[in-house]
Amino acid sequence: MGKILVIHGPNLNLLGKREEAVYGTVTLDEINGMIKDEAGNCGLDVEFYQSNYEGDIVDRIQTAAGRVDCIIINPAAFTHYSIAVRDALAAVKIPAVEVHLSNIHAREEFRHTSVTAPVAVGQIAGFGPQSYVLAVRAAVEIIKAAISE
Ligand code: DQA
Repeated sequence: MGKILVIHGPNLNLLGKREEAVYGTVTLDEINGMIKDEAGNCGLDVEFYQSNYEGDIVDRIQTAAGRVDCIIINPAAFTHYSIAVRDALAAVKIPAVEVHLSNIHAREEFRHTSVTAPVAVGQIAGFGPQSYVLAVRAAVEIIKAAISE
């Protein structure tokens, strides 16, 4: 039915052993497995990318232009200040779903602002690894709506 690109930002490679009280004990590989299963059930192909570098994430978004139907992105700390990631998402015109494991709105004030959410279709935050599964379902709806346009 389509293809999604899942981008994980900085420090998400440490999931499972990073601030477990906030992010839990599920690893990034396990989360990718959950995404793959859900995407497979929905008939979607999925590609994964993780980087700790802002420019690499910008490059990956740029090379997705015309190649994927939806981007699921957890920009991690870049959420709160990367105008470069925001501008890349806006430039490629690929619908994006922003994801966070934690409820960023219930945490420190500096996490309440997302500079990337305004260029995404929407944001899913606070459901732990299930945030990503919900994002796949959102991507299905976005792709279906684009097909029927
Ligand atoms: C995060 C929330 C961000 O504030 C933080 O910098 C992260 C992870 C989340 O998934 O809850 O690295 O994006």
